[in-house]
Amino acid sequence: MHKITIAIDGYSSTGKSTVAKQLADSLGYVYVDSGAMYRAVTLYAMQNGIISKKHFDTEKLKESLSSIHLKFKKEAGWNKAHIFLNGTDVENEIRNLEVSEFVSPIATVPEVRTKLVAQQQQMGQEKGVVMDGRDIGTVVFPNAELKIFMNASAPERAQRRYKELLERGDVVTFDEILKNIKERDHIDTTREDSPLRKAADAIEIDNSEMNLEDQFHVVLQLAKDRIAGRV
Ligand code: DC
Repeated sequence: MHKITIAIDGYSSTGKSTVAKQLADSLGYVYVDSGAMYRAVTLYAMQNGIISKKHFDTEKLKESLSSIHLKFKKEAGWNKAHIFLNGTDVENEIRNLEVSEFVSPIATVPEVRTKLVAQQQQMGQEKGVVMDGRDIGTVVFPNAELKIFMNASAPERAQRRYKELLERGDVVTFDEILKNIKERDHIDTTREDSPLRKAADAIEIDNSEMNLEDQFHVVLQLAKDRIAGRV
């Protein structure tokens, strides 16, 4: 069957990755979590003295880019591909609050974006891909056949993220999560290079009041219609 490209953008913690993964599994498509790539670059920067609470050495980050190698790999028994940073599986580490606090400034650097966008475009060359992020429908795949833009209220998103981190065993408070979400929204929407925007041809879904199942069915139907060329 004819394959399409599906771009899912939206604010932090709107459940983009959950629906993108469900959709990819159901269609037999490849799922790519582009945020994981920005998070892995952030982890590298933290580990190499490039970013901390007190400083951010953008020049050193730019010089280091050629030493940062990212790869997604999936092994039997894993429910999704993990991201590897220079050969090490960092899938778990990149989800902590510290990485979340530094990732938005890292993602403002145009040289970082150029490198990651090129790799993302390569991964989507064959179509049959569902990619989630902030600039997928606007920059990475402006010709994607289906673009979804996800939104939900900030407190609702913070509540979901808070629950997720507590379940992982992280020690966090609801207030710090809400603050982080609001800060990331601000940086992601106001940065100069590829700010988070709804593409003109994206379909917006506000899932504040929707459960995962209903949301999945809405998105799956949209995808099936596009694949069949009905809309
Ligand atoms: O999807 P996420 O929350 O894991 O993404 C982490 C950060 O990475 C997000 O705050 C902004 C940045 N990002 C981006 O700038 N462009 C993307 N395509 C994906 C993520």
